[in-house]
Amino acid sequence: MVCYGLHPALTAHSCLSAGRKARFSLCKLRPALRADSGRSWTTKVACCAADESGSGTSNKFFLTTPLYYVNAAPHMGSAYTTIAADALTRYHRLRQKRVTFVTGTDEHGEKIAESARAKGMEPQQHCNGIVKSFKNLWEQLDIRYDAFIRTTEDKHQAVVNDILQRVDAQGDIYRANYEGWYCVGCEQYKDDGEMEGDHVCPLHKKPCVQRKEDNFFFRLSRYQKQIEELLENNPSFVQPASRRNEVLGWVRDGLRDFSISRAAVSWGFPMPQDSAQTVYVWFDALLGYASAILPPGVDASVQNLQQRGWPANVHLVGKDILRFHAVYWPGMLMSAGLPLPETIFAHGFLTKDGMKMGKSLGNILEPEPLVAAYGHDAVRFFFLKEVIFGQDGDFQEERFRNIVNAYLANTLGNLVNRCLGLLKKNCNSTFPADAASLDAEHPLRIATAAEVDKVAAAYEACALHEAAEGAMNVAVRANKFVDDRAPWTSFKKGSEEEKAEAGLVLLAALEAARIASVMLSPITPATSGRIAAQLGFSDDDPACSTWAGTAWGGLQKGQQVPTPKPVFARIECDFVTAPADKKAAKQAPVAA
Ligand code: MSP
Repeated sequence: MVCYGLHPALTAHSCLSAGRKARFSLCKLRPALRADSGRSWTTKVACCAADESGSGTSNKFFLTTPLYYVNAAPHMGSAYTTIAADALTRYHRLRQKRVTFVTGTDEHGEKIAESARAKGMEPQQHCNGIVKSFKNLWEQLDIRYDAFIRTTEDKHQAVVNDILQRVDAQGDIYRANYEGWYCVGCEQYKDDGEMEGDHVCPLHKKPCVQRKEDNFFFRLSRYQKQIEELLENNPSFVQPASRRNEVLGWVRDGLRDFSISRAAVSWGFPMPQDSAQTVYVWFDALLGYASAILPPGVDASVQNLQQRGWPANVHLVGKDILRFHAVYWPGMLMSAGLPLPETIFAHGFLTKDGMKMGKSLGNILEPEPLVAAYGHDAVRFFFLKEVIFGQDGDFQEERFRNIVNAYLANTLGNLVNRCLGLLKKNCNSTFPADAASLDAEHPLRIATAAEVDKVAAAYEACALHEAAEGAMNVAVRANKFVDDRAPWTSFKKGSEEEKAEAGLVLLAALEAARIASVMLSPITPATSGRIAAQLGFSDDDPACSTWAGTAWGGLQKGQQVPTPKPVFARIECDFVTAPADKKAAKQAPVAA
């Protein structure tokens, strides 16, 4: 959708809301004057609403994770966002969309400079080391990103300079003195209401420091009305809904201009307006979402960005950085004349003893030992299934093991394994009929189809916990169906007709298992891959590698399956985290 000659007050919300109602129509709104500057607003601006024309934006899916600070190696909290992002983008790939999954690292600012200094290293050298540990972890977790941006890259600096100049040209940058309380951990000035006791940051539990500086400011207040309308007219702009209310509250309280340069921080890009100052780390980092998708030398024009999937369908963020994404970022984009994202989704925190797990507090859970002991699918599954996406969640190792064993080993794994075992013994490892030929009223077929719709809706809404739950429901039901029909009895002492019927029981159960496994594949890619292979499919067979494969009818008569091997082994190894976790887990038994 393209909006011609929009007043900034109309740009965001009008296009978005028009787009939601009439998905393909061009929104040709009349050129108007900027109320505040008197200058005409003639920039051609595009907005994000989806179209379904095929050539447009509906067939693409662009998702970002935050760009992670490289003050230290990643922990499970940072991995959580990335796992969720990977699952969502895998789902949209199954849907055969043109997916762009951006992640990366935020390498400038005081916090990073301090970490480097503490190690006696140059900031760049420090960043290079930590970036490796992020990339390694993403590999261990089987994260398939399309672009990894480091904010110290030259191509990123070019985008930052370009946007700063465009924002300046709109009259949105001015110089002023600022005095306030600064949290280095958050890289943010805090208002009185945002601090505890004696100016302590509630997130980092450290005192904020008083700062007085001559800075450049971004005129966010000029976008007050547009941002308020954007939020009011687009219920899905900030998700979940509870977060949207929080953001609306902040905006209605009145937006204040924010400082976008630092006089006392040398580790950052010099401000093009005055090289004695560096660009504020948040203004710098948010623009990484644009530079990530642009090759070096290609400028951040609307056209160049749109060709590469812009704007984001979803910016996935933790709730602590929602203000930057839901308030500052739209203001920056409006000023720069760039299309706005569709949704900012804020998830909750992984906690330990009720406190946000974080590098600054030192209460982190290391992902590597978990992945090494249990495999990436177990880790991905546990956090996505067990933590309601959008809310906080705690980790206890015993509960983790119980959940993974109950669902992946005992439910899905066992379903596949026992049915294939019976198929080998009684049907020569061959499906006796096409799954499509089973009665349209077959109870498992009907129940599975209903669950597929629910799971698709859950993925579309970023409700990953519901998607995982729905896929597992199919496997639970299939197990119960097998138990109820007891095909082993018919195979042993039934008539020929009963034996044939027992073969169809296995066929139906394995078809349901196939569909459950496709639905779960964004979350447990390796396990789903093993199930596909066990059912006799190659990796790229559409029955297992596209969402169309969730339709009933993938298993074919005569299809041979290999010798059954467990697709998910029960966890029986030693615990890998502190034993204290065991006690807590005893209070939380699991029934799958
Ligand atoms: N650098 C900024 C983001 C800039 S985006 C343009 C930043 N980095 S961060 O490393 O501190 O955090 C990155 C993400 O990790 C945030 O979404 C944050 O919420 C998430 N998490 C960090 N600790 C977390 C938990 N304990 N639990 C869940 N997510 C957490 O902010």
